[in-house]
Amino acid sequence: MNQKIDLRNATILVTGASGFIGKRLTEYLTLHYGANVRAMVRSYGPAVHLARLPVEIIAGDLMDPISLQRAISGCDLVFHCAAGISGSDESRRSVTVDGTRHLLEVARQAQVSRFVHISTVAVHGPNPGPIIDERLPLVHSNDIYADAKADAEQWVFRYGKETGLPVTVLRPTVVYGPRSGAWTVGPISGMQRGAFKLIGGGVGSAHHVYVDDVVQALLLAATRPEAVGEAFIISSNSSVPWHEFFGYYAQLLGIELPNLSLEEIALQRQRLKQLRNPVEMALTFAASPRARVLAHQIPGVGASVDLLTKAIPQSTRTTLLAHAASVREAKLNPPKPPKPWIVDYFCAQNRCRIEKAQRMLGYQPQFSLEEGQKLTTEWLRAERII
Ligand SMILES: NC(=O)c1ccc[n+]([C@@H]2O[C@H](COP(=O)([O-])OP(=O)(O)OC[C@H]3O[C@@H](n4cnc5c(N)ncnc54)[C@H](OP(=O)(O)O)[C@@H]3O)[C@@H](O)[C@H]2O)c1
Repeated sequence: MNQKIDLRNATILVTGASGFIGKRLTEYLTLHYGANVRAMVRSYGPAVHLARLPVEIIAGDLMDPISLQRAISGCDLVFHCAAGISGSDESRRSVTVDGTRHLLEVARQAQVSRFVHISTVAVHGPNPGPIIDERLPLVHSNDIYADAKADAEQWVFRYGKETGLPVTVLRPTVVYGPRSGAWTVGPISGMQRGAFKLIGGGVGSAHHVYVDDVVQALLLAATRPEAVGEAFIISSNSSVPWHEFFGYYAQLLGIELPNLSLEEIALQRQRLKQLRNPVEMALTFAASPRARVLAHQIPGVGASVDLLTKAIPQSTRTTLLAHAASVREAKLNPPKPPKPWIVDYFCAQNRCRIEKAQRMLGYQPQFSLEEGQKLTTEWLRAERII
């Protein structure tokens, strides 16, 4: 099973071929290798870019095993790039975990020579410590996406062990480049709408990799016999602080990036806790004009409330009323502090090691951040996004 795979003569299934990484991989496989690619898509709309390539576009849904059976029939190799990225938490999780299981099952039946699965470095958690490498455990961190990816990855290895399916897993860091939703177009459109903020000054480490380098790693993972049964972190040679990574986009747009400080986040969390505190809720209601009106509608109660109110010293009353007013105000516009794992992720300062991929796959990132940004900018301009 662990023979060297010749991409030129293989029939290759790419799931998520309408997505950012899947599409770039499909372009490389067809244009650089002349490979026979079956590009699996859920619907034809997002696949419009694929139509100009010499590929077979095939309809398939990870949640529909029959469609997967059809898509994989006669394939030698699978690149599993699809994942649950949009929709409800439940459906995202299900597409990523159950969908991967469905695909593993049909891949086993089809006896493919290699199943390359794209996981993510996020399976190690938002802040796994000073050094990130493949020896770290897979953890759950309440991030729906990362937790589902960790579970899917575990299924991939379990399948590999139990059925002999030759599997390889890549765990890329932040993949950016032309057509990237999460790390290029998304942040830029957030900045354009004034809805983007750095977190904690953006001093955490951004481990980034240009999309073509991920494609290089995918191709190596598919063709190197020693890659079977292994996971590889895929990133560029260096990292920069987030304020530099996102600052580049901000510079293109000619804006200064606003910052959400850790102090502000702590304050927002505290305010949110107050809003949910039953004593605070009762106090706010008691201090509201509506509570007094209601009290006066109940015989005997209104007078007692008036007496009680008068018994409280004026200064205390003023403080309580001001506090209640601020809670009422906060209720109308409740703070939305970022989730703890997001803060951990954007504040973590660490180093990501790619030595395993370099040693075992011969992976060498070709694109510095500067070059990747330059190519991305050309595309952003051509698409009139900036
Ligand atoms: N981008 C990154 O920075 C990054 C980093 C680490 C790991 N990864 C992993 O890399 C892979 C590709 O990411 P990406 O950035 O290219 O994502 P993407 O652009 O959002 O693409 C996701 C793909 O999955 C497809 N898909 C979703 N639900 C499906 C279903 N039920 N059946 C079949 N296909 C379905 C989508 O098809 P539609 O077009 O029909 O929606 C789309 O083609 C993912 O596994 C992701 O977790 C990405």
